Amino acid sequence: MLATRFTDVFGIEHPIVQGGMMWVGRAELAAAVSEAGGLGMVTALTQPTPADLVREIERTRALTEKPFGVNLTILPSISPPPYDEYRRAIIDSGVGIVETAGSSPEPHMAAFKEHGVRVIHKCTSVRHALKAQAVGVDAVSIDGFECAGHPGEDDVPGLVLVPAAADALSIPFIASGGFADGRGLAAALVLGADGINMGSRFLCSAEAPVAQAVKERIVQASELDTNLILRPLRNTVRVAKNAVSDEVVRILDAGGDFPAVQPLVAGARGRKVFEEGDLDAGIWTVGMVQGLIRDIPAAGEIVRRTVEQAEEVLSARLSLFTRRGMTCGTTQTPGNR
Ligand SMILES: Cc1cc2nc3c(=O)[nH]c(=O)nc-3n(C[C@H](O)[C@H](O)[C@H](O)COP(=O)(O)O)c2cc1C
Repeated sequence: MLATRFTDVFGIEHPIVQGGMMWVGRAELAAAVSEAGGLGMVTALTQPTPADLVREIERTRALTEKPFGVNLTILPSISPPPYDEYRRAIIDSGVGIVETAGSSPEPHMAAFKEHGVRVIHKCTSVRHALKAQAVGVDAVSIDGFECAGHPGEDDVPGLVLVPAAADALSIPFIASGGFADGRGLAAALVLGADGINMGSRFLCSAEAPVAQAVKERIVQASELDTNLILRPLRNTVRVAKNAVSDEVVRILDAGGDFPAVQPLVAGARGRKVFEEGDLDAGIWTVGMVQGLIRDIPAAGEIVRRTVEQAEEVLSARLSLFTRRGMTCGTTQTPGNR
């Protein structure tokens, strides 16, 4: 059992979260992760209306009695979705856990707290994590530069970001970005995190509602096969390398502006990739960690083997090093090392 402050606060068995994923975080995937003892997330904005979100939450409840959460991603937009109504749908549905992302959770905290909803805020820097802690979130999920989606503009990878967060925060936090297996979970715990958040790994699972061609591409792809788009606009997104993301990078590097790439990055085109398996239909999100993803198992199997491998690494491998270290200490002197 890898019990941590995070599993205690959120009442789950294993310190593994399936992060919110646009078009992917639907009932079947969230329920499968939660059923296996992790924390699944239904993605609010994947549902066209707040009423649809209420129905999706009901569908998730029909599939699992274990805790699950809802991701509410709040991004700047010309015509923003009705965030307050989605928040109301989450609260009225009695979901006890929310993952906020995209911008500060502050405007929503009073309503969530009033109704006993526990908040995990996902962010990409220690300063934003501290701000979230100050406004009363229950936990932070901190995304390193490796991550799929929005890595922020600081470019700090997890190996530095996670221990930096551990030094700065007093609330529980989980490490996100670049995790696919038990070695990653063990490393995150060793670096001071209370668990991990995974996106790409669960995108490439049996229950993820995306075309098989997408999953097979992830299995074939290496850690080099992502692009960072919209960098010059300071709205960086890590996506799969394909004809469309190459073109977006090329246009903006040549001095193009957002209207020049807007048709290429349209959400509807990315949705087509997931629904029809046409890998060059648009932009689709995946992280560098695809270089470690080699199969398409059930989501529950991912949770189980991640925990098993982490336990194995922590108890067998690290204790082996300890024993070797002790041997060194007794048989060698500093002079002959
Ligand atoms: C297909 C896909 C869609 C995503 N959509 C969202 C989203 O809508 N909101 C959000 O907060 N994070 C989103 N993410 C980010 C994940 O929740 C998670 O933070 C990220 O995938 C972690 O990096 P990893 O892929 O290396 O595990 C998405 C990730 C993927 C792969």
